[in-house]
Amino acid sequence: MDNKIQQRLQVKACIEEIKDIDELSRLFFRELFHLDVSLEHLFPGSVLVLNRKFANMLNTLKNVKHLEKISDSLASMGERHLQKYGVKVEHLPLAQHALLAALEAYPAVNLAENNLKHAWENVFNDVADLMIAAMQQSDSSDVQLNTYTCSHPHFLADIGGEEVVTRVHERFYDVMFEHPWLEGFFYGKSKSSLIMKQSQFMVAAFGGKNEYQGDTPAFAHMHMFITDAMLDERQHVLRAAILAEGLSPDEAQYWLDVDDSFRSGIAKQDVSECVTKCPGQFPLVVKDRKN
Ligand code: HEM
Ligand code: HEM
Repeated sequence: MDNKIQQRLQVKACIEEIKDIDELSRLFFRELFHLDVSLEHLFPGSVLVLNRKFANMLNTLKNVKHLEKISDSLASMGERHLQKYGVKVEHLPLAQHALLAALEAYPAVNLAENNLKHAWENVFNDVADLMIAAMQQSDSSDVQLNTYTCSHPHFLADIGGEEVVTRVHERFYDVMFEHPWLEGFFYGKSKSSLIMKQSQFMVAAFGGKNEYQGDTPAFAHMHMFITDAMLDERQHVLRAAILAEGLSPDEAQYWLDVDDSFRSGIAKQDVSECVTKCPGQFPLVVKDRKN
């Protein structure tokens, strides 16, 4: 059998054996956003939405045995990615890298076996090449990018660097851990670790270095029933912490806007939108205000 066909069937068989696609999705987005945190803004929405998008991608890669026959539909998919979703050609290698890293970290897949890694690389490249060719030919003059554009490239330096981000989060979590309403989310959590993670995350979101290794906000909060009212309250606390650290009201507003751009992945209307990791685990629900 043609080597390419063999590799496509190998990838298909590998995908069919993956029992927990949602876990692979979590690993994929963690890797992808670690490579480029601004890509978060191409993927608004909850874990359910992210998992569906990831499943779409895998599904395409699963069904490419006769790639040449579906090249037209892959070309239009490439155009949709550019025109409608704001994906750029240079994002495709990032997605490939993230997918391979996710497969590497997924315990039931052994990429070293039977040259499986090579098969994945080739199948992804063949699909991506068709998408890229169409993206390059497509008229991108009226592309509506929903990517996050950093309007303050020097924000981090202007406010005094990472130390200031950390100091704000120290103040912020001091209040959140004692908060009469929201403290319930933080029982048993390590304050210092949260300060560190939140600071690394926001430094990356402000365009600084990306040292954040944790989950994407949608996954980190998927089991927590966090409402818009709670997110509003959290923003009040954060604003106070930012101002107390000496930043101007404009700087505070910019910080809050960046922070709030992650809301759609976290906010839930109903407890049924919570996603738990395993059967028997319950959503984390914090009742009404205690004061
Ligand atoms: C081999 C690579 C890829 C494949 C096979 C693929 C496949 C798909 C498919 C089948 C869909 C469903 C909607 C449609 O068909 O238009 C989709 C949606 C999407 N893809 Fe991809 N994709 C790939 C790479 C990427 C990359 C690199 C990004 C961005 C970093 C991306 C971002 C998106 C987004 C944001 C949507 C959702 C659009 C929406 O529903 O709002 N994809 N992808
Ligand atoms: C009322 C709203 C929120 C509450 C109650 C909340 C609560 C929490 C809790 C309890 C954790 C610890 C999770 C764990 O260790 O298992 C956490 C982690 C985290 N949160 Fe939030 N959060 C909220 C909103 C946000 C927002 C808007 C952002 C983004 C700007 C954010 C970013 C993070 C990050 C980066 C982590 C670390 C995730 C990790 O360890 O992998 N949170 N949050």
